Parts: sequence; C-alpha cells; structure tokens
Amino acid sequence: MPKVTILPDEKILSRTLAAQLVAALREKPDLVLGLPTGRTPIRLYHELGARYAKGEADLSRVTTFNLDEFLGVGPEHPGSYHAFMQEHLFARVNVPPRQINILNGAASDPAEECARYESAIVAAGGIDLQLLGIGTNGHIGFNEPARELAGKTHRVVLKASTRRSNAALFGGSEANVPREALSMGMATILRARRIIMIATGKSKAGCVNRMVNGPITTRMPASFLQLHRDVELMLDEPAAGELSVVGSG
Ligand code: PGA
Repeated sequence: MPKVTILPDEKILSRTLAAQLVAALREKPDLVLGLPTGRTPIRLYHELGARYAKGEADLSRVTTFNLDEFLGVGPEHPGSYHAFMQEHLFARVNVPPRQINILNGAASDPAEECARYESAIVAAGGIDLQLLGIGTNGHIGFNEPARELAGKTHRVVLKASTRRSNAALFGGSEANVPREALSMGMATILRARRIIMIATGKSKAGCVNRMVNGPITTRMPASFLQLHRDVELMLDEPAAGELSVVGSG
C-alpha cells in the first residue's frame, strides 16, 4: 500500500512537497530526480523556483530525467516537453543544462534514442526520487492502459484522451497533438528508489482510488505502484474524495 498524504489544497500540497525536495537536496545534493510534465507539477516547479530565488535551494549538482516527450517534436518546438520544462522549471533554477535529460522526440532513430536514455539513467546511478502525475485513465508517463505494458523506455501510441488533455500545448487543437510519444517504461519508473505521485482536483479522484484500492492491472498502469516499497501519494482533498481505504505506508 502506498503511503497517502492528504493536504487541504493544491497550494499547500505544492509548498509541502517543495519543502521536502529542498530537504532531500540538502541531504543529497547530487540527487537524481525523475520529473513529470502536465498541469499538476506546475505550481511545485514555480515554488522550487521561488525557493531558489530566495537562496533556499541549490540544484547545481542535481541530474534530472523527464518521463516522456512527443515523437516528431524537437526541443525547440513550443509544444514540446523540453519547452514546458524550460518555462516552468529550468529557467527558474540552477540545474546545469548538461545534467538535464529529456528524450529527444525528433531523434532520427527513436529506438536508439530510447536505448540511449535507459543507459543514461543507469550511468547516472539510477533515479533516486521519481515524481509522477497520473492521467485520469491511470497512465503514468505515457504508459497508457493496454493489454500489455512495456518495461523499458519505448515508443507509444497516445490515447485520444491523452492527446485531448495536451491540446493546449499545440494551439488548443487535439488534431495537432502528435499521435506518438517516447516514454520511460514501467520498469524504468518502478526502479526508482523512491516515488512521490501527486494528484490534485476532483477529476483525479476515481483513478486515484482505483490505483490504491483496485487490482494491479495493465488497464490501470498506475496500479503497479502498489508493488513498490517506497511510494507516497500526495493528494489534495478533492483528489482524495473517492478513496475507499486509505493506505498507511
Ligand atoms: P495533468 O497530467 O497533470 O495535466 O493532469 C497528469 C498526467 O497525465 O500524467
């Protein structure tokens, strides 16, 4: 059972988690962090930026690995997760660019890019702390519900619902969202030594409950987190609204 922490609202959640990250960085300045994109972590990233600006956080020795990127989209594309991360986190803190790892969606050989990424994670010593969001369909990274899931970093076909929720990055049009992406796999994610998932808002209440209390199934990729020994779920009250049984860590 994951440990579940419920905070009153998104703002307090982001502040609490930012404080925990700052503490983790003091303990291990060369932390290897796995990072998500999406609406959920934006406040957290801005909060980290604010703490850096106040001299409270130093990320100069941190190495980061993002979960995923759209296929066919280069780092310069405004809809890319590269651009998202630059805007919301990396422009605000001091992670040296050479320590920032994001899959290159425009790589000429996507399979080779995925293999390179897996090796880079191993070479960095593995991920110490993986931050995760959850899709309303239960996806983590771009590991979408399916009959089978992939272990390693791989190429994926995105679900319509996922493309819809990313439309804002592509001029508001779902049709412009790439149909495929590259994503860390389930094993890549589950190998992280510690995982913190954040979920906020009422729309996440159903998937959060299924993830914690439902069966472990490829139809709900996040349910595999039940198998990990160090997972914390940080929820705001609306996202915790349907939890039938609360895990205790
Ligand atoms: P969201 O996305 O933060 O935009 O809700 C989460 C996810 O799809 O993993």
